[in-house]
Amino acid sequence: MLTLPPTRTPAEDVLTTMRQVREHDAKWQEGKTWSLVYHAGDEVTQLLQDAYTLFFSENGLNPMAFPSLKKFEAEVVSMTASLLGGGDETVGNMTSGGTESLLMAVKTARDWARVHRPAIKSPEMILPATAHPAFDKAAHYFGVRARHIPVQDDFRADVLATRFAISPNTVLIVGSAPSYPQGVIDPIPELAQMAQERGILFHVDACVGGFMLPFVHKLGYPVPDFDLTVPGVTSISVDLHKYAYAAKGASVILYHTQALRRHQFFVHTDWSGGIYASPTMAGTKPAGPIAAAWAIMNYLGEEGYLDITRTVMETVTRLREGIDAIDGVKVLGDPAMSVLAIGSDTLDVYQVGDQLTLRGWHMDRQQFPPSLHLTVTHAHTQVAEQFLDDLAQTVAEVKDFSMDKLSNRLQVGVVQTAARFLPEKLMSGLVARATSMLGLKGAQLPQRSAAMYGMMASLPNRGDVNEIVLDLLDQLTQVDETSG
Ligand SMILES: Cc1ncc(COP(=O)(O)O)c(C=O)c1O
Repeated sequence: MLTLPPTRTPAEDVLTTMRQVREHDAKWQEGKTWSLVYHAGDEVTQLLQDAYTLFFSENGLNPMAFPSLKKFEAEVVSMTASLLGGGDETVGNMTSGGTESLLMAVKTARDWARVHRPAIKSPEMILPATAHPAFDKAAHYFGVRARHIPVQDDFRADVLATRFAISPNTVLIVGSAPSYPQGVIDPIPELAQMAQERGILFHVDACVGGFMLPFVHKLGYPVPDFDLTVPGVTSISVDLHKYAYAAKGASVILYHTQALRRHQFFVHTDWSGGIYASPTMAGTKPAGPIAAAWAIMNYLGEEGYLDITRTVMETVTRLREGIDAIDGVKVLGDPAMSVLAIGSDTLDVYQVGDQLTLRGWHMDRQQFPPSLHLTVTHAHTQVAEQFLDDLAQTVAEVKDFSMDKLSNRLQVGVVQTAARFLPEKLMSGLVARATSMLGLKGAQLPQRSAAMYGMMASLPNRGDVNEIVLDLLDQLTQVDETSG
């Protein structure tokens, strides 16, 4: 077990160590990371850092003590509401991210039903298969049963299947604008109308799309209706730390009426420490993300967001054309904006992903169907051509080689590169557990992520995968004594 250093360490030494440790992190600044970081240039980053540190010590727990934070949050929420078709009655709050916003939407629906649909003892919500897992997390936390419905061949929620899944216990239906896996927008008007006709709440998860789609639409690209102007939509979430390019820890949850939002709040009046009230999950609430969100929205304004969106969409157009022109891979579905998946009818895309990893590209691997995920941001405008060249070459390589022909360099390289993102110890722990479940011999241990995914998919039941991932979560907080 690690103990505190017995004595102080000079600040410069602490920072030097941190810079060294960081060298193994994803190099998002080079535009080779297709997820996790939304970067809009150094000027924007500088402003975010300045605004964040200006409010580094304040606490959003009590906005009465910090009227500045109250102003920033109220204005951020209001600007977001106006962007997403909100009206006079629209209200909302800032949260720490998409997950917290979705948790709030589900908790609100559950508590709304307790008051307005008291006969419901076991509340349910309907989730398209592509809905973000934060909804399942909310189901898990709040005792709401999640009923998953399939998506259609175009990866959009199946309206008919939704209709059949509605039960007397349904309190909430969900649609995404767009969904994360393939970036397509669910048929929000049809789903929301169905919910409205049956007195059911409807949430639009615009966490990834809420700060892109309005600008994409303004620039003349086709965008189906998805926001608060759609009849039946009762709440919508949008992450500012994604396409609003704010600092991490910033999202907004909006409700179509104040009465509905009441079910989100928590108040405890009988505590010896005084009356306690909290609108969202957090108690102590970092002020930095609130301040930075306000700063970036005012700094960029509509003009800035339109400029960034124009550049991103031009890059997306180039990428889509380029990907579809490569024989063997394709863009799945018809993505509405800048989130897309590369799949294949003929190749193992995980192998393509491994080859791209060797060239320094970091992309999430997806399943059902297998695909590689791209979130295109401002940071990718300069690297699109290089990516397409590398993709074309890797596709050709994957067509060429079989597992037997893999060179040592490739195997070692992939493991090393994978280890940059997943510490080797964790990787080997995972592999060992999975292979023992499968009864494989040591010699057959898969060393590449393509093989890992293939193996995961071949495990006899999903419960095993669940156990493997739980092991991983346990291990993530173990101190790695081999790291510097
Ligand atoms: C559609 C969608 N919803 C919700 C989330 C969750 O957001 P966060 O990671 O900020 O909690 C994401 C994250 O990518 C998302 O794409």
